Amino acid sequence: MLSRMNAVCRRSFSQLCRGPSVTAEVSKGRGIHLSCRRRTVMPAWVIGKYGGNEVLRFSDNVLFPIIHYPNEVIIKVHAASVNPIDVNMRSGYGAKSLNMSRDPLHIKTAGSEFPLILGRDVSGTVMECGLNVKYFKPGDQVWAAVPPWKQGTFAEFVVASVNEVSLKPKSLSHTEAASLPYVTLTAWAALVNSCGLSKEKCPGKRVLIIGSSGGVGTAAVQLLKAWGAHVTAVCSGNAFNLMKDLGADDIIDYTVESLQEQLKTRDQFDTILDNIGGSSEELALQYLKPWSGATFVTLVTPFLYNNDQLGIADGMMRTGVTLASKVMKHYYKGIHYRWGFFTPSGPSLDVIGELVDAGKIRPTIEHVFPLSDVPQAFQKLEAGHARGKSVIQVVDPKK
Ligand SMILES: NC(=O)c1ccc[n+]([C@@H]2O[C@H](COP(=O)([O-])OP(=O)(O)OC[C@H]3O[C@@H](n4cnc5c(N)ncnc54)[C@H](OP(=O)(O)O)[C@@H]3O)[C@@H](O)[C@H]2O)c1
Repeated sequence: MLSRMNAVCRRSFSQLCRGPSVTAEVSKGRGIHLSCRRRTVMPAWVIGKYGGNEVLRFSDNVLFPIIHYPNEVIIKVHAASVNPIDVNMRSGYGAKSLNMSRDPLHIKTAGSEFPLILGRDVSGTVMECGLNVKYFKPGDQVWAAVPPWKQGTFAEFVVASVNEVSLKPKSLSHTEAASLPYVTLTAWAALVNSCGLSKEKCPGKRVLIIGSSGGVGTAAVQLLKAWGAHVTAVCSGNAFNLMKDLGADDIIDYTVESLQEQLKTRDQFDTILDNIGGSSEELALQYLKPWSGATFVTLVTPFLYNNDQLGIADGMMRTGVTLASKVMKHYYKGIHYRWGFFTPSGPSLDVIGELVDAGKIRPTIEHVFPLSDVPQAFQKLEAGHARGKSVIQVVDPKK
């Protein structure tokens, strides 16, 4: 942890930042070596405007990422994966809020966020480090989830801050590792940051997960089981075997009978994670143990939507009013009500990596697409009914 803190402390920006990099290449069997060739462009999937799948464009001519801050690293992307946020961002969802957070040094160099690279997950090799990076070195095998206000990972290289990066679990290939960072960190943010769960607090706790068969759900089930909670998973019948395999104690098929009727027959819960939103929220809230510290957390919030529709000031106002009224309403019924948001975190990934290497969390990969098939991966995600994750293989492991 200390070396991580050293790694993120910043010195004078102008002294420490680096210009366009000398490119390091991985040569088979000989590890990393530096080539003197100066790379200025790289291949990547970009969008030049918001819209449907037709706006995704493959280009060989995307600007090579540059280390602008001393705590940044350039990672050669071996594998990435798709998440609902990629499909949403492609359509322009969240653009107002994300543009406000974008760093003009990395994006918006020409006054616009385009060309924008999507993709949040990366598993790959550190190629170059900012001058203040102590915790990582070129050649390290790492994984990370890059926040949505930065350039993404459907590319040959990506730049990330060291506090977003972690050493890849040794037991996983890059393809496997790329399926986990964004969804496990979202599950972590919801369950640990919002609900206060931990390894110590999970035993004896009854947790309900609505939407357990997708990316976040499969990660949440495993994290909770690794920490000894009792997990009730809500999914379609054809995900039953997957849920059993991941260790769920009780499984509810929401397609055969109303969720409400099925919840009535069960004991109440200490925590509910809602990955679905809509009517499931009001319905599920009745099944928490009141006045016992029970917490409901949803990942489906109107935060970005409100800012898109109303602008930042009015959007934030509406969001604040909505959240405050829900928190108060449920507080008076003895329930904590929370919204959960993905939070990038290398240190949390370090802990998740240990659970992975201990065999407690494993990748749930439904499909692997080559880099050329990013649009097909988007189509698959948009069609719904995910069972775990779809991965994008950027480097063919056989080559
Ligand atoms: N707030 C944040 O920062 C944040 C971060 C990550 C994700 N999210 C949101 O969280 C949600 C889940 O993300 P994800 O990555 O897990 O999505 P995903 O991989 O697409 O999975 C969604 C899963 O939910 C299942 N499902 C659909 N309707 C259901 C219902 N009524 N009851 C139970 N299960 C249902 C789907 O399978 P079937 O349709 O076959 O049942 C699918 O397995 C998305 O809305 C995403 O946008 C928010």
